[in-house]
Amino acid sequence: MRCEVLTLFPDMVLPVLGQSMLKRAQEKGLLEVRVRNLRDYTLDRHQVADDAPYGGGAGMVMKAEPIFRAIDALRQEYGGALRQEHGDDLRLLLPSPQGRPFTQAVAEELRDERRRLVFVCGHYEGIDERVRTGLAPEEVSIGDYVLTGGELPALVMIDAAVRLIPGVVGDPESVLAESFADSLLDFPQYTRPPEVRGLAVPEVLVSGNHEAIRRWRRKEALRSTYLKRPDLLRDRLLSEEDRRLLDEILNEHTNVC
Ligand SMILES: C[S@@+](CC[C@H](N)C(=O)[O-])C[C@H]1O[C@@H](n2cnc3c(N)ncnc32)[C@H](O)[C@@H]1O
Repeated sequence: MRCEVLTLFPDMVLPVLGQSMLKRAQEKGLLEVRVRNLRDYTLDRHQVADDAPYGGGAGMVMKAEPIFRAIDALRQEYGGALRQEHGDDLRLLLPSPQGRPFTQAVAEELRDERRRLVFVCGHYEGIDERVRTGLAPEEVSIGDYVLTGGELPALVMIDAAVRLIPGVVGDPESVLAESFADSLLDFPQYTRPPEVRGLAVPEVLVSGNHEAIRRWRRKEALRSTYLKRPDLLRDRLLSEEDRRLLDEILNEHTNVC
């Protein structure tokens, strides 16, 4: 996966890229990320990248020209002859609370993207609208709340997509089993010791019976989904086993109530 992050605050992004899985993915050559400071694409001596909004009002708006110039530079650097043959080599993404919701399916889409992903991070009151109309980036939201900038959303998207690349997460099984991978939430996890403050590990997990453990995990994944995110079960085709397990769960919960 190849990414470019365009930002006024590189230091909000770089330290995170230097840690944990994101760092390992880069070391293994599975992720390439460059962070560019949009101030380097300003036209004036003071490197002004924002200005007051037309029409008045609070806050500052990021200027369009530095962003256009940064994209021009990227196109020159990476496009060239290749672009003429195969179309644009860049996929422009604009983190925005007004965008298409970011989901696990979008993360998979980004993981599979052959083009370079360019995250244009807004800040302050946002970006001059002409960036959207002129460059037609895809607006993507990481949730119905407003953050101070697009840097954290860009990192969220990169992180969620990169860990789906085979070889990034140590055990590929863990990616297959976790929340949303199968439109279900993950089953609960436990680690040593067997008892913490009087709370014991479910016996089945220390039984050594692999089939019983598999069945328990499937049931608990269904239970978590049913209790926390029933919307994920709606319109979902259930296997014979899932239907049986879900019936058991429903009975258990009706008996408790
Ligand atoms: C303070 S916000 C601007 C919000 C804008 N005035 C609005 O109400 O739509 C500054 C920047 O943070 C980023 N941002 C904020 N919330 C976001 C979210 N939920 N998802 C993705 N990006 C977000 C965007 O890049 C945005 O340009």
